[in-house]
Amino acid sequence: MEKTLVILKPDAMERKIVGEIISMIEKKTYTISHMQIKELNDDDLSYHYAEHKDKPFFPSLASYMKRGPVVVMVVEGENAIKGFRKLTGATDPLDAENGSIRGRFALTKDENIIHASDSPESAEREINFFVHGKRQ
Ligand code: CMP
Repeated sequence: MEKTLVILKPDAMERKIVGEIISMIEKKTYTISHMQIKELNDDDLSYHYAEHKDKPFFPSLASYMKRGPVVVMVVEGENAIKGFRKLTGATDPLDAENGSIRGRFALTKDENIIHASDSPESAEREINFFVHGKRQ
């Protein structure tokens, strides 16, 4: 069984679609083994988005992610990392499949509802950080 780290971003909370997204996750038969509502700060975001820190969109990404609480989850299942990315859909909702979470709910790539780990290495790093408070 694989584990992946999922974040429902502030727009998912604001739009009150957390329940619908959880329902999509469960209907796919994934198991949610950890779930926590959290407010992220600059330090969390600099660590989590280290690869985007120098990109021009980072300041707006950081203020979006700090706008309100997020839901941090660990999701488990067969091939959960690649499979969950498929359920999430492409970063730009215009490219996301209609049945995916972003395809159903997101309109722009700036505010795209959900994050999911993109590789086994990211999943391990993100679970260590968000669940166990450990940096590597
Ligand atoms: P995600 O793929 O979860 O991680 C990086 C995030 O940066 C992405 O979702 C978007 O929320 C955000 N973002 C904002 N602008 C851009 C952009 N131009 N290209 C890629 N990601 C962007």
